Amino acid sequence: MNQGEAVFDLIRQEEKRQKEELALIPSENYCSSAVRKALGSILTDKYSEGYPGKRYYQGNRIIDEVESLAINRAKKVFGVAQVNIQPYSGSPANLAILSAVCQPGDRVLSQHLSMGGHLSMGQQASMTSRFFKAFYYGLSKRGQIDWDGLESQVRKQRPKIIFCGGTAFTKVFDFPRFGRLADESGAFFVADISHIAGLVAAGVHPSPARSAHLIMTTTHKTLRGPRGAMIMVTAKGLKKDPELGKKINQAVFPGLQGGPHNNNIAGVAVALNEARAAGFKKYAVQIVKNAKALATSLKRYRFKLIGGGTKNHLIWIDLNNKKIDGWTAAWALEAAGIIANRQTIPFDQRSPYYPSGLRLGTPAITTRGMKEPQMRLIGQWINEGLEAARKMNLEGIGSPDRERDQKARKEFKQAVFENQELRRIKKEVKSLCCQFPLP
Ligand SMILES: Cc1ncc(COP(=O)(O)O)c(C=O)c1O
Repeated sequence: MNQGEAVFDLIRQEEKRQKEELALIPSENYCSSAVRKALGSILTDKYSEGYPGKRYYQGNRIIDEVESLAINRAKKVFGVAQVNIQPYSGSPANLAILSAVCQPGDRVLSQHLSMGGHLSMGQQASMTSRFFKAFYYGLSKRGQIDWDGLESQVRKQRPKIIFCGGTAFTKVFDFPRFGRLADESGAFFVADISHIAGLVAAGVHPSPARSAHLIMTTTHKTLRGPRGAMIMVTAKGLKKDPELGKKINQAVFPGLQGGPHNNNIAGVAVALNEARAAGFKKYAVQIVKNAKALATSLKRYRFKLIGGGTKNHLIWIDLNNKKIDGWTAAWALEAAGIIANRQTIPFDQRSPYYPSGLRLGTPAITTRGMKEPQMRLIGQWINEGLEAARKMNLEGIGSPDRERDQKARKEFKQAVFENQELRRIKKEVKSLCCQFPLP
């Protein structure tokens, strides 16, 4: 093959894979062809350090309009006072918030990684924990915020920021309660709504705009935009610190970033316009209906769901009663054309790489147009897939003897793609997927 074609050949392969497989990763979605058109546009070639009306490069007359359009749309969709649309992604956006609000060594409080928190909010493995002193709160066994633990941490540590939000939470966030806690203790309340931004935009999940001082969201999950993020300053945030917007802008540029990715910003502007359209509310409602239908189907096969079910787009499975770990389950499902996400569960005894759970989400399959009948089928396939995996040779997987464990996992990974039952499911998955094309 011509070397110049190599990348495009891989893109074609990935497109085929996405068309034929079920994307159940809760943080994934398919953006529209209009968003992709903006992403692939000539805007990618322009340098524009600075902000609309105040750039360090010439030639930004039109880029200023693009960025202003995106900002104004975001303000309307989320009901906030100010928006910085330039963060390259969610992790740098959370770092920008930390550096705008805190001094090195300041204390922050966030949901623990093993309980569904996200790295970028002060977790040990993240650089953020080197600069800021992070403390954590967890979830109860029922998947709710452990309010007693959280309140006691607030009293003890007096954090500068209380973060809410993470990668695994199946309930409705009680934003007013977080807001009151922050107000009582003098902390800033930062709501990271990356996962649920589309649900918030559609009014399917309550908005944190009146409770939080700052809101961060990635743009590529339920919001269905391109990869990116935005930091929103609320009226409440500006009341607490009238300089907060300025601090955020300075933290993003020149603090942490250089030139904004203008093609992405244009893509976000397109996605925000789509999120204002009538059809988006219907889409968001269907995401939740589908998650509930998939949860019900899984429960029928005796899957143990953290929190007992779901109130949003996400399903969190404790696999302990199924005698299979998250790693093994996720590979078996991949062999069946079902792309899931392994995930630690609250009070997990295993490591994040070989955790005890799975995380599933319905945003992407809902974008394809799938509804409740398809969710019932997917639940059935997940059950059949894991039953097939359990009949395979799992001996040695999870052994405390690391060498034995790794050897067993390697052999399983080779064998799983040859398993006839998983291949049968993969064929059926493909045939379903062909009826629900990507946008
Ligand atoms: C809650 C939350 N915050 C932040 C991020 C980080 O986003 P990114 O992967 O774009 O850096 C994620 C990503 O999954 C997330 O779920």
